[in-house]
Amino acid sequence: MAEELVLQQGHKAEQYQSIIPQIQAIVEDESDVIANLANICAALKQQFGWLWIGFYLVKDDELVLGPFQGPIACTRIAKGRGVCGAAWQQQQVIVVPDVDQFPGHIACSSASRSEIVLPIMKAGECVGVLDIDSDELNQFDQIDAEYLQELMLIIEKLI
Ligand code: SME
Repeated sequence: MAEELVLQQGHKAEQYQSIIPQIQAIVEDESDVIANLANICAALKQQFGWLWIGFYLVKDDELVLGPFQGPIACTRIAKGRGVCGAAWQQQQVIVVPDVDQFPGHIACSSASRSEIVLPIMKAGECVGVLDIDSDELNQFDQIDAEYLQELMLIIEKLI
């Protein structure tokens, strides 16, 4: 495993194109899921500097907080609640340009202004979500959704 990430400046597409292969290299020699999810959060945090990046994993029909980077967060989220619970229920990527406009948004951090949540699918079932929050409005768009779905293909093989 490389000891240091190479961080990319420039357009976010270039940043994703640089970090995704590095993440692949970091996780491919490690079999422990938690270790890999933790390093994925750290790599995304280092590259993009977003406020909060983390995983919630489905356990006993709830989303339970997993590895993350950022301020402390809610530990459990029910199906359908907040953006994470909605992404789980709908099994689809949700981009929220302004969290104050999302009914039922769970404000773990008052600094969060926009977010993107992607379901982690395994054998047709959602087994968790990747939640990314920004302290800026309108931080996420279709470019993030596309590249993070590419990253999700790596994540889904780990779980
Ligand atoms: N914003 C999320 C809750 C999780 S935290 O932001 C870390 C939501 O509404 O689903």
